[in-house]
Amino acid sequence: MDLKETTIAKIDQLVPRYPNKRSAALPLCHLIQEDIGYLSNESIEWIANRLDLEPINISEIVTFYPMLRTKAPGRYQVRVCRTLSCALAGAYKTCKQFEDAFDCEVGSTSPDGLVTLEYVECHADCGNAPVVMIGEKEYTGVKEDVTRDLIDKIKNKTIEIG
Ligand code: FES
Repeated sequence: MDLKETTIAKIDQLVPRYPNKRSAALPLCHLIQEDIGYLSNESIEWIANRLDLEPINISEIVTFYPMLRTKAPGRYQVRVCRTLSCALAGAYKTCKQFEDAFDCEVGSTSPDGLVTLEYVECHADCGNAPVVMIGEKEYTGVKEDVTRDLIDKIKNKTIEIG
């Protein structure tokens, strides 16, 4: 598996901090997903090996937590906040616009691999709802017109992702 040197350094620092290596499993999953975008079978085996566990121990974690992915994400990750303020401000409508524009349901990746669409919970910017994250960049006030503009930028690959 091809991990960045910085990821390996972080893992090497992190593992000894836990008296019980097993406790490092979730943080390792996050680090590897951050690096390569998802957790493949190879990654799961790698983590298990690194922590002297069985792959099933890691698979259980990966399948339990919805924020961990087992498939490669699209080029752009679009995450729509659906907590109360955003929901009241129209987040579900915003999400539907993304679904229609990219022909993918929330929780999946568009057939062209351009977008992975997900819901997230409150980003603590409720006063500017609806809030959408694209990559690491937060977009606020994402109502119909703004959504249309974001969709165009994603399709043209000119969107800022932080
Ligand atoms: S409810 Fe969406 S940012 Fe708080």
